[in-house]
Amino acid sequence: MNLPNMLEAKKRDKNSNIEIYDYKEVKIDENLVGKKFFVRTYGCQMNEHDGERVKGVLLSQGLIECETLDEADLAILNTCAIRENAHDKVFGFMGLVKKMKESKPDMLLGICGCMAQEEVVVDEIKSKYKYVDFVFGTHNLDKMIEVINERVRTGRQNIEVYSILGNVCEGIPERRDSKYSAWVDIILGCDKFCTYCIVPYTRGTQRSRKYEDIISEVNRLKSEGYKEITLLGQNVNAYGKDFYEDYNLSNLLRDVSDTGIERIRFVTSHPWDFTDEMIDVIAECDNVMPYVHLPIQSGSDKILKLMGRKYTKKEYLELYNKIRNRVKGVSITTDIIVGFPGETEEDFQCTLDVVNECKFDGAFTFAFSPRVGTPAEKLEDNTNIEDKNERLHRLNEVVNKYSNEANQRCVGSVMKCLVIGKSEKDESKYMGYTENMKLVNIVSSEDVIGKIVEVKIDEAKSFSLNGTRVEEC
Ligand code: 5AD
Ligand code: SF4
Repeated sequence: MNLPNMLEAKKRDKNSNIEIYDYKEVKIDENLVGKKFFVRTYGCQMNEHDGERVKGVLLSQGLIECETLDEADLAILNTCAIRENAHDKVFGFMGLVKKMKESKPDMLLGICGCMAQEEVVVDEIKSKYKYVDFVFGTHNLDKMIEVINERVRTGRQNIEVYSILGNVCEGIPERRDSKYSAWVDIILGCDKFCTYCIVPYTRGTQRSRKYEDIISEVNRLKSEGYKEITLLGQNVNAYGKDFYEDYNLSNLLRDVSDTGIERIRFVTSHPWDFTDEMIDVIAECDNVMPYVHLPIQSGSDKILKLMGRKYTKKEYLELYNKIRNRVKGVSITTDIIVGFPGETEEDFQCTLDVVNECKFDGAFTFAFSPRVGTPAEKLEDNTNIEDKNERLHRLNEVVNKYSNEANQRCVGSVMKCLVIGKSEKDESKYMGYTENMKLVNIVSSEDVIGKIVEVKIDEAKSFSLNGTRVEEC
């Protein structure tokens, strides 16, 4: 048994070597071969991608994926810790499994992901949730089978979570959710320590993958027929800083562009590390998509400072305008937190001012949620929840107005879309994304899933577009 420790998770040692190693296969207990598993993933794209690995490893050991929880012999919840509501969802789901286990006592339940790295959560699981069979963290996903086998061998709850700097394991089996668009990790962990954020504690230090490994993964995906890849990291713009003297995201983007894969995206960008060279690459390489997710978090310099964001509103606006002016047809989205401790109505007005100035294509907006062990948790917070929600509501009205306007500007134009499946709203239509990441519901008489097609945009909504495939117009 190994338990997480927030003090250890916070340590950073620049002289310590990050281990890079290949995945080593371990056979699962023979009684589990042929059994059915169910994986539920919460949270960001990096976690989605980890979920693909959890499935890949289980499939590689001869287990079978099932669609619903009630069919499962083994259920794994791959969790997110970013806000309290992510916690609530997981504990709610665990309750369901508990009920199910009453009639299926042999069913196994495992917890992994960011919540598994939180000391408070694991203490609670250990003392109150004895029906959870095993827990592993973000640093030992590749050792998941050992953790499960130990639980089966001893019959006791097995918790194996490490609060370490982290490592880089290559070649973990994956069962990708899409056949057309794939996630590719480029940098793991985070060293920014924004005062509200739990990620540097749950995902370890900032560590880049070797560019050779990234390029060969992209080449492999291309040869398997993937049309699009998204380079992933908590802060992709810091790529290479920990590892190379003179190789950064702009070099990586050029090299990935040279593979000839049709579409390249990257998320998430921290304004701090965004260089002019990176903007040039996005503008110059046709297969690097004109879409940037650039979290601002707040428009008040006082709050940005308290958040530890290391830029001012003016610096953000300079960068924002540089990207807008240099990259043709770019769309820019952002993240905003309201109700951070100390945020006054005036600070909030500064945030509304920035939104009015930037006219973002879209924004993910959140009410501040204190995370145990982060510096912001200890700041005095005198805004009550009703006021926070009221600010969130006002912010969303402004944000939605601009995303609607940005979408309206697309009406009448022809946009290239990668079609990823049937439309969720209307089975007779298809669903795809434009180069600048707008969701389009497409009329097409032919099955165009997996293809990049030209679509004439007929109508705009706040969160999506409606269009017709050009051949049909
Ligand atoms: N409370 C509210 N929102 C948060 N985010 C991160 N931590 C918190 C928190 N404690 C938001 C930020 C980040 C996005 C992924 O989640 O806006 O960019
Ligand atoms: Fe992803 Fe952050 Fe949630 Fe972890 S806490 S799953 S890194 S969003």
